Amino acid sequence: MDRVLYLLACAAPPVQHLDRPVRDAGARGWDVCVGLTPTAAEWTADQHAEWEELTGHPLRVRPRLPGAPSDGWPPATVTVLAPATLNTVNAIALGLTPTWVAANACEAIGKQRPLVVMPCVNSAYATHPQFARSVETLRAAGAPVLLGKDGFVPNEPGQGRPEEYPWHLALDAADEAL
Ligand SMILES: Cc1cc2nc3c(=O)[nH]c(=O)nc-3n(C[C@H](O)[C@H](O)[C@H](O)COP(=O)(O)O)c2cc1C
Repeated sequence: MDRVLYLLACAAPPVQHLDRPVRDAGARGWDVCVGLTPTAAEWTADQHAEWEELTGHPLRVRPRLPGAPSDGWPPATVTVLAPATLNTVNAIALGLTPTWVAANACEAIGKQRPLVVMPCVNSAYATHPQFARSVETLRAAGAPVLLGKDGFVPNEPGQGRPEEYPWHLALDAADEAL
């Protein structure tokens, strides 16, 4: 059976360590394709060549132009959205598609393709009333949102430790979603 993992990342500090889940997912037998929001892509431009080499696939940041040829990504088995920002969590819960990453996550929900979401939000963002509504909407749509004791624990503003982001929990959930 194909094991294709779309790893879609937003502009939160753990994105700078994306090589870790890419390597770990590869070791777990996943064929990994990496998508980035434009802001996440801007933050990590110096690592793109390495990630393309590691995955064997081009990165996706922006939608294809109408009529443009496919870049050859295989269809996803499971999609992991991590780190998921407040901005992108709210966008996909509301069905908004401001970026290719948000659009693809919306499509995963619509097609009932397995989607795992692991936020990275500080406690100020996490207590915004829309965030709780968005998490509830995504869970009701069948997408696990890994937050709290079984996922990402929101930090105080300015106290984030991106190197401790629990990537393994998102990959465990992807394995379980198969
Ligand atoms: C240094 C820095 C750290 C940030 N960390 C976070 C974060 O942990 N979580 C979050 O939701 N937004 C964070 N932001 C804000 C997002 O980058 C911003 O909302 C951005 O527009 C998100 O875009 P995206 O969802 O398209 O990736 C951070 C911004 C900066 C400059």
